[in-house]
Order: sequence, then structure tokens, then C-alpha cells
Amino acid sequence: MSPAIGIDDLAFATGSFRIDLAVLAARLGADPAKYYRGLGQSEMSVVAEDEDVVTLGAAAAQQILARGGADGVRTLMFATETGIDQSKSAGVYVHRLLGLGPNVRVVELKQACYSATAAMQFAAALVARDPSEKVLVIASDIARYELDTAAEPTQGAGAVAFTVTANPALLELEPANGVYTEDVMDFWRPNHSTTAIVDGKTSITAYLDAVAGAFDDYLSRGGAPFDAIDWFCYHQPFTKMAVKAHRHLADRAGSGADPAAVAARIEPTTGYNRRIGNSYTASVYLALLALLDGAEDLAGKRVAIASYGSGAVAEFLTGTVPANYRTALRAAENERRLADRVPVDDATYLALQDAARRRDPSNYETARQTPAPFRFGGVRDDQRIYEPTV
Ligand code: HMG
Repeated sequence: MSPAIGIDDLAFATGSFRIDLAVLAARLGADPAKYYRGLGQSEMSVVAEDEDVVTLGAAAAQQILARGGADGVRTLMFATETGIDQSKSAGVYVHRLLGLGPNVRVVELKQACYSATAAMQFAAALVARDPSEKVLVIASDIARYELDTAAEPTQGAGAVAFTVTANPALLELEPANGVYTEDVMDFWRPNHSTTAIVDGKTSITAYLDAVAGAFDDYLSRGGAPFDAIDWFCYHQPFTKMAVKAHRHLADRAGSGADPAAVAARIEPTTGYNRRIGNSYTASVYLALLALLDGAEDLAGKRVAIASYGSGAVAEFLTGTVPANYRTALRAAENERRLADRVPVDDATYLALQDAARRRDPSNYETARQTPAPFRFGGVRDDQRIYEPTV
């Protein structure tokens, strides 16, 4: 019998700063309850001047390599929609920072918030071909919208890294999966822009339609019925979106769950995203990590991943949690990582946002701010500089 394949280790990193959404509410003239309860967000991570998707991704992956080593890693896939170069993969910088050997294939994937899930499926295929392989997947993003818009409180920043292996410790993927693609202009970022363009209301409808389409495809390919799935991890641009998505699937399945019961069901998946904000590609895996790190006993339970990327692509898949999964977690360390972020006021946040818009993008130095293991030193003659912090 061929071995189970899935996620063996899962770690995250995020920006060094955080801003409470009540601070944004004061400038935007909103009731803080609109963000806390209406969007389901309490705060969001903000990156230091010398942090970007490479430094976040490397910091997440370093935790995994520190525990499990790099033996068997022959592929590194870097999923992002915060591309730093039109040609070179962000993963190649990470490969050097992590000290990986030369016999590794490295590639970057893009489809808005979805591409980490594509990476996971591609990784599973590689492991099916050679079960001795350990594929390293990194998903890393910084969500930026124009200031003073309705989208501003749904920014955030974060990275996850996970390994896909045979006989995984955290999630054994089930064979059925459902996919869905439709050309929709709900959210996009043209090459000339550092911020995304979004039609908020259209994006919510497109998300619900795509996740439902992916779920239908999952069912048609032998997937488990809605009521046979114990937990649902949705992409969380803001955590209320997961509640909306779950209500949508529950209604379509005729489950009869009332709104309070739906919200309670989703709550264990929201703890990290509520504090980090939208981390795009990383978000659905932060939902999974929050669930794994939480109080629920997941041993033997079936967990769904509902991945959505604007534009739009969705995938719905399930996996089961092995009996001893808790031995492979780092929940206390994860909590410390969030608690250690330094709170900033609005003026500091605005200055950090301004610093991200470089007057001369070909040459600049960044201030030394991050306490993370790697830093982005700036750009010299159009070449990005990355270095260990110590
Ligand atoms: P908005 O127009 O400011 O908000 O934009 P609203 O008026 O719709 O209110 C939001 C919620 O707060 C509502 O709850 C209100 O009732 C409630 P709902 O009815 O939806 O359940 N509310 C209050 N609650 C308590 N106390 C109050 C109060 N006032 C109002 N006083 C929007 C919200 C999300 C559209 C905006 O922030 C936005 O455009 N964000 C960016 C787009 C986005 O995140 N879309 C999500 C789906 S698309 C996606 O997930 C893909 C994405 O991650 C990108 C990718 O794939 O790469 C974005």
C-alpha cells in the first residue's frame, strides 16, 4: 500500500510590528466594532522597513529546517502575489539564506491567494513519485491597499512554511479534491502598482461562488459529504469571510445550522488571522495552524482546506489528522511570536507605509529595524540585498 502523503510540519512568521484596528478606525472615522465584530479582525501585522516576503518566508522555513533538517529537500516552491522581481524567484534568495545545497529545484508560483495550495498538490505528486522526498513550500505575502479606503483595515503580512512528505505528522491528504476557475475582475495588482485594486463587494461574491464551485467538484469526485467533515479552514482575508463562506456551504448542503452555530464552528480556525490580518497565500494555512495549535482534539478528524485566490481560482480538499499530531506543533512559540510584535501608532504605521514607496527603486538602503533572523538591506544598482541579522 502506498504511504499517506501530506503536511509534516507547519510554521509561520509575520511582521515585527502590529497596529490595533481601533487606531485605524479613529483616522477612518469608523466605529471600531465594525472592524472587531463586522470584519472579525482585532489588529494587523505591519512589516519593518527591512522585512519583505523573502525575509518572512525564510524565517518561517528556518524553524522547520532547525527541527527536521534539510535531508530529502530537493524542491522549494515559493508561493506569493507580492512578487519582488519579474524574473527571479523569491525562493532563490531564501534558498541561499537557509544554506540549502545546490541540488534543489526552486520555483515561484502565482495566482493571488490560491497558489500555496497548488504548490501543495504539486508537492504531493512529487512525493508520490519518490516517497523519500521532502518538499518545502513557502507562502509569503504583504497585503497592501491604498490608504483611507474601505480595504485598508484588511491589510496584513505573514508567511507560512510547510513540508510535504510521506507519512506526515500533521495532515494526511485524502485523494478527492475539487477545483474551480472563472475569469473575474474582483481584485488584481497591475505591474506598475504596489497596492492592489479591489472591488470589495464583487470579491465577496466571487469568493463564495468559487468556493461553492470547488466544493461541488470535490463532491462529484468522491469527496466526503458536508456533514462528514469535522472542521473547515477557509482562506481568511478577514475572519468574518470564513463565517460567510461556511454559512454559504452549510445553506447549500441544507445543514440547517443557525448563524451563531456556524460562527462557533469557525472560531477555532481564526485565532492567528484575526491578529495578523490578510496574509494572502499564507492565510488558509494560518487557519489550519490555529486549529491544530488550539484546544480541540483533532486526532482522527477530517479537516477541509478551502483555498481561494481572486481572479479567480478555488480548491476544496480534505485531510485527516494523525493520532500524535500534537508532538509536531510549536503552539507556545507561535503565541510568543505574535505577542512579541511591537504595537505602533498611526503616525509610525503611516511612515512605514510611506517607506515602502521608494522614490528611487533602483538604489536605497533600509533602516535596521527587524529582530528577525534575516533582513532586507535595500537595493543597490537594482540588486536586492539580503543578509542574516546577526
Ligand atoms: P466596507 O464597505 O467598509 O464594509 O468593506 P461593510 O459596510 O460591508 O461592513 C463590513 C461588515 O461590518 C458588515 O458585516 C457590516 O454589517 C458590519 P456583514 O453584513 O458583511 O456581515 N458593520 C458593523 N458591525 C458591528 N458594528 C458596527 C458595524 N458597522 C458595520 N458599527 C470590505 C468591507 C471587506 C468589502 C473591504 O474591507 C474590502 O474591500 N476589503 C478588501 C477585499 C476583500 O478582503 N475581499 C474578500 C473576498 S476576496 C479574497 O478573499 C481575496 C483576497 O484575499 C485577495 C487574493 O486572493 O489575492 C482579497
